[in-house]
Amino acid sequence: MATVVSFVNTKGGVGKSFLSVHLAVWLFDKGQRVALIDADDQQTSARWLLGVADHAVEVIALKAVSEDQRSNELRHLINALSSKTDFVIVDTKGNAGLSTSAAVIKSDVACVPLQASAADLWPIENALSTIRLSQEARAGLPQTYLILNQTSDTDVVAREVRRQAETFGVPIAQTNVKRLHAYRNATGLRIVVTRLNDRIGRSAANRLDKLFDELIGPHIADTQEAIHE
Ligand SMILES: Nc1ncnc2c1ncn2[C@@H]1O[C@H](COP(=O)(O)OP(=O)(O)OP(=O)(O)O)[C@@H](O)[C@H]1O
Ligand SMILES: [Mg+2]
Repeated sequence: MATVVSFVNTKGGVGKSFLSVHLAVWLFDKGQRVALIDADDQQTSARWLLGVADHAVEVIALKAVSEDQRSNELRHLINALSSKTDFVIVDTKGNAGLSTSAAVIKSDVACVPLQASAADLWPIENALSTIRLSQEARAGLPQTYLILNQTSDTDVVAREVRRQAETFGVPIAQTNVKRLHAYRNATGLRIVVTRLNDRIGRSAANRLDKLFDELIGPHIADTQEAIHE
């Protein structure tokens, strides 16, 4: 069965699509069978990923119109894709809704990107509400991580946000994601930063490698052990 990873935050513009696309290609480049479901009707990640060359990530955008139909469609897709892939990644939309709740309840791992500002921290309880319900009902699943995006290692506000975020009782990824032009430009250029090889590109890539190794790396080992059993 696949590991299902969703990117959720009821706040928009925090990096859900950016991280979903990069994780999908990063896993593919590690030899994993990957599907990405775009559950946001803006279809940022589906459009982006369909423009990226040389991958066999299965990309599916939800088609249904109403939220209850979309959540059913998502549930069926995750079930169908789980039996033929190693990872199913779900990029959700930037506000609360049934489809986002369905993504959380079907996930093994939920990643909650946020920007390092108080304005991103205040509404985080909203984003965590379905996660907490699911964790109580499913013995702690999804494993959930906050990810500080668009920051820097010397950002004092990020340090303060990290300190405050600890009070939510949800782990925060050790790896912060810097605000970089290389990341911002990747969408329009239809590339993924994890494949860049020049000096500046490599340092941008290394940061995402580190983040994904930290959060998702242990699940790759699980998958490989399962194959060898
Ligand atoms: N670390 C970063 N450095 C620079 N630009 C970034 C970074 N992370 C995301 N961006 C840019 O910020 C914008 C918003 O990111 P993204 O579309 O991934 O957010 P989202 O959470 O999916 O938004 P929505 O809720 O609208 O779907 C995009 O233009 C993206 O390229
Ligand atoms: Mg998005």
